[in-house]
Amino acid sequence: MAPDAQKDATEKPLWLAPLRGVTIRAFRETFAGAIREAGFRGAFAPFIPANPGIRVTDRLLAELQSVPDGVPLVPQVITKHPDAMRVLLRAFRERGFDRADLNAGCPFPMIVRRGRGSGLLRSPDTLEALLEAGCEEMGEGKFSLKVRLGVDSPDELAALLPRINRYPLAALTVHARTAKQMYGGEVDLPRFARILAESTNPVIYNGDASADSDWPRLAAAGVMVGRSFIRSLGARADADTLLRAYVDHSREELCGDTPVLGRMKELLSYWCAVPRWRRLWPVVKLCRSVDELLSLVP
Ligand SMILES: Cc1cc2nc3c(=O)[nH]c(=O)nc-3n(C[C@H](O)[C@H](O)[C@H](O)COP(=O)(O)O)c2cc1C
Repeated sequence: MAPDAQKDATEKPLWLAPLRGVTIRAFRETFAGAIREAGFRGAFAPFIPANPGIRVTDRLLAELQSVPDGVPLVPQVITKHPDAMRVLLRAFRERGFDRADLNAGCPFPMIVRRGRGSGLLRSPDTLEALLEAGCEEMGEGKFSLKVRLGVDSPDELAALLPRINRYPLAALTVHARTAKQMYGGEVDLPRFARILAESTNPVIYNGDASADSDWPRLAAAGVMVGRSFIRSLGARADADTLLRAYVDHSREELCGDTPVLGRMKELLSYWCAVPRWRRLWPVVKLCRSVDELLSLVP
């Protein structure tokens, strides 16, 4: 896949964000038509952990399927162990993936405390060792990094940038918040603009963007969109049909009603921002079976 998201200005440099438990394989397959219509250049897969002694099994990689018909997938790894990451990256390559992404943005305190996700921003030497290993394994312009502005302070990434700039990345995706903010509060556009100006790698904007928002797309090498796209699916005329298809797909894959129900509730927690679904949400939350949930679908 071409690393530069802006070679052709007529194409939308839009990337589907990785959302663990949401933009999973079944989601990408069920909503493939909507993903293509929105003009996504590619989709980042939710993270796969790489720990010492990693055994790469088919099960571990089962999620790695591109969106059908032309939206390539970028697999993502979360780790602080360069050698374990190399093992996983080689497995990605063996499966035909020529790009991979490192998660340095996950904000969950337990992950951060253990030095993974955005915790990597606190361990510059480890981060560099990972970037070096990633660029070596995947090749120049084929490995990317997804980060936050910082853990507690929005200036942490800027301080690290000279070290990140040493590596020829496919992209630096910046979620314009600190980890402390989790997923709420304002995005920090001035701080993002500083990273954009000082990064020698292509920068992808992330954070509360929609597929139609223009400014980050014009300024940055691309924009990554997650929650607003997921919400927008609930506003489609065929949302009910798609939801049923998602249930069918999930029933084929999962064992029993409970995980399927959990998956649907997770999706509807985004759709409840849309008027058509909002009034259903209090009832949906209490549903105890998928059939009960489907009987409520308008
Ligand atoms: C439920 C959930 C799961 C997420 N999983 C991942 C993940 O696996 N890897 C990652 O890099 N970011 C993950 N993120 C962060 C998103 O990719 C994205 O950075 C964030 O939602 C902000 O973008 P948005 O406002 O367009 O949604 C997750 C976010 C949420 C809400």
